[in-house]
Amino acid sequence: MEYNYIISCFLLVIQFLVLVTKIESKVPAIVVFGDSSVDAGNNNFIPTIARSNFKPYGRDFAGGRATGRFSNGRIATDFISQAMGLKPTIPAYLDPAYNISAFAIGVTFASAATGYDNATADVLSVIPLWKQLEYYKEYQKRLKAYMGESKASRTISEALYMTSIGTNDFLENYYTMPGRSRQYTPGEYENFLVGIAKNFVKELYGLGARKISLGGIPPMGCMPLERTTNMAGSYDCVEKYNKVALEFNNKLKNMIVELNKELPGIKLVFSDPYFVLQSIIKRPSLYGFQVTGAGCCATGMYEMGYACARTSMFTCTDANKYVFWDAFHPTEKTNHIIAAYMVKHVLAEFNA
Ligand SMILES: *[C@@H]1O[C@H](CO)[C@@H](O)[C@H](O)[C@H]1NC(C)=O
Ligand SMILES: *[C@@H]1O[C@H](CO)[C@@H](O)[C@H](O)[C@H]1NC(C)=O
Repeated sequence: MEYNYIISCFLLVIQFLVLVTKIESKVPAIVVFGDSSVDAGNNNFIPTIARSNFKPYGRDFAGGRATGRFSNGRIATDFISQAMGLKPTIPAYLDPAYNISAFAIGVTFASAATGYDNATADVLSVIPLWKQLEYYKEYQKRLKAYMGESKASRTISEALYMTSIGTNDFLENYYTMPGRSRQYTPGEYENFLVGIAKNFVKELYGLGARKISLGGIPPMGCMPLERTTNMAGSYDCVEKYNKVALEFNNKLKNMIVELNKELPGIKLVFSDPYFVLQSIIKRPSLYGFQVTGAGCCATGMYEMGYACARTSMFTCTDANKYVFWDAFHPTEKTNHIIAAYMVKHVLAEFNA
């Protein structure tokens, strides 16, 4: 009797230890920085036209709600959160519908139309990357007040930090506005941005982050908006932009190798969306898509944001047949494929 009692106590203790180790080795929260690829609605709460909190955005989201995500449904970080065993969506920090108890598990500081470069955020008056980091510092204070110093510190060091940013620096700023292209060659501008990315990671590390995924940029010459302008190239992908994306990603990758050597205890990985999206665009039928050259929303050639809403009577009926939702952003289905790829090939080690 007594012997059995000791055995069962012993087994309980073992079970408890297994449970605790399992929980501790996993990611307790996901913290996101970036642009429209990962904004869940922060821009709804700042004065900018870079918004998507109206129909037909979000028509395949839970409740058909237009949250401010630039998609018909969820975005890649939502799917990643779910795959990591956390919530199915990551809320926007500025959204008053959520509080610190939700943000303690996942939060995004991202702002559509922003970039690494302060001048990119200025184009449409959105939240620059440095300001996203300021919000993150405030978040840390709130987290400590909410869960106590020691538990908050553990969440901060065990959380997975993700960035997805950089496309706008080239397409919205460098190749569109007059300033930066007079100041820098494309290669010099890439170096300038990588320098900002490097400082950003160092600051985040200084604030306690250890598990960080830095996102690369997609084959941005293949976005419908860019193809629409490529009349001379029979509306194919703009090779010049894809080349810059590849170059930039390579520089980011080299910087990541350096920082992994330089910063003790950091686990910095590169989440490269280029090749997975490229393969979807090249062989859409393999993934069940029918259209890649135009977005689902409106004519699919140039509309996003308010323009997408205004002419939405042309919008396609089944977004799952389209790689792109509007002229600049993937559909929920594409986001899901990219997220699953990242979880499997890059982020799995954080969830082991
Ligand atoms: C956060 O909001 C939920 C309801 O959405 C509420 O139950 C909870 O008490 C709030 N937590 C804090 C810390 O304010
Ligand atoms: C961007 O602006 C912030 C705030 O003014 C400043 O601290 C930072 O140095 C700027 N970044 C660059 C790369 O100029």
